Amino acid sequence: MPRDDTHLPHALRGLRIPLIASPLFIISVPKLVIAQCKAGIVGSFPALNAREGAGEHPLLDTWLTEIREELDRHNQANPDSPAAPFAVNQIVHRSNERLERDLEICTRHKVPIWITSLGARVEVNEAAHSCGGIVMHDVINNKFARKAIEKGADGLVAVAAGAGGHAGQQSPFALMREIREWFNGPVALSGAIATGESLLAARAAGADFGYTGSPFIATDEANADPAYKDMIVESGADDIVYSSLFTGVWGNYLKGSVKNAGMDPDNLPTADVSSMNFGADREKPKAWKTIWGSGQGIGAVKSVGPAKDIVDRIAREYAAAGAKLAAEFS
Ligand SMILES: Cc1cc2nc3c(=O)[nH]c(=O)nc-3n(C[C@H](O)[C@H](O)[C@H](O)COP(=O)(O)O)c2cc1C
Repeated sequence: MPRDDTHLPHALRGLRIPLIASPLFIISVPKLVIAQCKAGIVGSFPALNAREGAGEHPLLDTWLTEIREELDRHNQANPDSPAAPFAVNQIVHRSNERLERDLEICTRHKVPIWITSLGARVEVNEAAHSCGGIVMHDVINNKFARKAIEKGADGLVAVAAGAGGHAGQQSPFALMREIREWFNGPVALSGAIATGESLLAARAAGADFGYTGSPFIATDEANADPAYKDMIVESGADDIVYSSLFTGVWGNYLKGSVKNAGMDPDNLPTADVSSMNFGADREKPKAWKTIWGSGQGIGAVKSVGPAKDIVDRIAREYAAAGAKLAAEFS
């Protein structure tokens, strides 16, 4: 039976599988976003990944033109399997001094899906709505979820334990339950969703979408060091450490990269939140340049390959897992 997604905003309907590829700092570039969208899931990137040199034309403008043109070409050539829409991530933290400029560029390009993180702001939601876009705000608990919707976000990304990057600590089941007690709008669930089985579990827990990042690091299209891609393939959940040291926000990292930087991943100090910085001077100490983020779900990643292969695998697994469970209820 086809999935009924008519309750969702237009931009989120008709995906091949109910999956959103999450934005990854440095790693998500147009090549990866285009591959994700062509494979039938929402592709995304952080606006801050598009960094031009001083005095140069804004790279974000160039990227958005490139993504639109390539997806339009694809849709004209493949009217029966059109690409999914793309999303741009805005870091709404006060240290992001590019925010106003980036909002203007995204509004001009009529970006269909806006993913916001680190602080909900009314003016960002208004900018998205002014061009017909929708906003999914990233939260790690029910309190932040309420705040985001009060400030005008259309939907939520619920970031549960085990997610890559700035992860939460709550069980996905607890978080989804609390959000669904009061919110009927679109919710994507994040945290180690790397297989069709876990995507189905996210849907069963009440989410409209899964939200997946780390497996896409190990793809041909990802802008990541080949050694990082290999470490994703070689690592599993035991190889992930949760720490606030590297950005001031708690997040999950590959222990191997922490060891390579000369530190003991099992004895890391805690950082001060005031060290959070998303400005142009977002420089890490030299030893931290190769600290690599990842969620716990990477045991499912067995090789580096095209992003489409990940989507194809998850789609196959999702259908098989769904059919198996449906048989129990038939
Ligand atoms: C290396 C890395 C970089 C990330 N960068 C961002 C970012 O710039 N903005 C953001 O909203 N989330 C970022 N995230 C978090 C993801 O968007 C998402 O919540 C997470 O990847 C989902 O968990 P998973 O990796 O277990 O699939 C990042 C995650 C990783 C692993």
